[in-house]
Amino acid sequence: MFIRTLLQRYKPARIVVFSRDELKQFEMQQEFTDPCMRFFLGDVRDADRLKQAMRGIDYVVHAAALKQVPAAEYNPTECIRTNVSGAENVISAAIENGVEKVIALSTDKAASPINLYGATKLLSDKLFIAANNIVGGHRTRFAVVRYGNVVGSRGSVVPFFRKLISDGAQSLPITDARMTRFWITLQQGVDFVLANFGRMQGGELFVPKIPSVRITDLARAMAPDLPQHIIGIRPGEKLHELMISSDDSFHTYEFADHYVIAPSITFIVKHGYESNEAGETGVLTPEGFYFASDNNPQFLDIAELQALDRATP
Ligand SMILES: NC(=O)c1ccc[n+]([C@@H]2O[C@H](COP(=O)([O-])OP(=O)(O)OC[C@H]3O[C@@H](n4cnc5c(N)ncnc54)[C@H](OP(=O)(O)O)[C@@H]3O)[C@@H](O)[C@H]2O)c1
Repeated sequence: MFIRTLLQRYKPARIVVFSRDELKQFEMQQEFTDPCMRFFLGDVRDADRLKQAMRGIDYVVHAAALKQVPAAEYNPTECIRTNVSGAENVISAAIENGVEKVIALSTDKAASPINLYGATKLLSDKLFIAANNIVGGHRTRFAVVRYGNVVGSRGSVVPFFRKLISDGAQSLPITDARMTRFWITLQQGVDFVLANFGRMQGGELFVPKIPSVRITDLARAMAPDLPQHIIGIRPGEKLHELMISSDDSFHTYEFADHYVIAPSITFIVKHGYESNEAGETGVLTPEGFYFASDNNPQFLDIAELQALDRATP
């Protein structure tokens, strides 16, 4: 989706896809035949390979991560190597190559994390924010984009429910009837990342104002006639996700369609985060403000979830 959007809207001289799996890359090569496309096999744990891949690159989106919560708990060092050491390597390669702007993807699970995946993403966030202080004379600037569940993404609840429904399940499992989650479509995520390249000065953590869903509503939307059964909350799972904690309210700015958590550290170059490079202005959030999936003013109803389900491949 990200590549498709780039090719539709811009005329990039070169797009480098950097990842490990040759099969996924082979499949992408069949779909994206534009001569600007380059496919680099590589691992973010390999600093030298990353440096090669970023030669002559102006903008980087860092998406590579191990993101399955139970797998991260079971294989903590693997998750740390990819999500934390990998982040450090992306930062070094970007600075060394004079990349202009880097956006790293974060997750609501990184806000007050309770599982290893979230904790590694918080460390990654901190590395990218602080990296603005180690650029020296280089032009590179770093920002973070944090959002919640991407509808239909690999390993997420929508494909899980779809499989159960197509396999003829007699009921859908719900961990807890009270559970809520943030909800964003892949296209909204892509658009938000692209918009923030135009907004960023460096050091921001951008959070979109996205709706929440009740998991029971999602199950009802996808299978109106199926009963639901409660299986209990799983280790490392929260009842509700948090995007911005109340401790961040002192340095969080509200804009029309997003929030910016400004860095809590002082930068060599002092920025004013209440306005951005795109000329938009925000206001400081009131003390104690927090943005969680259960206090969100915007919830999707069953009809909206059904429309979204139909539109999601
Ligand atoms: N999905 C969500 O709901 C969600 C929500 C919030 C934030 N995010 C964040 O968004 C990012 C992308 O998530 P996603 O859902 O798109 O995950 P995904 O489908 O698993 O994609 C992750 C990509 O990273 C690549 N990758 C993994 N480890 C790598 C490594 N060591 N070196 C190089 N490439 C590596 C994988 O390609 P190869 O296997 O080919 O290496 C894969 O294409 C992650 O940072 C995640 O934390 C996701």
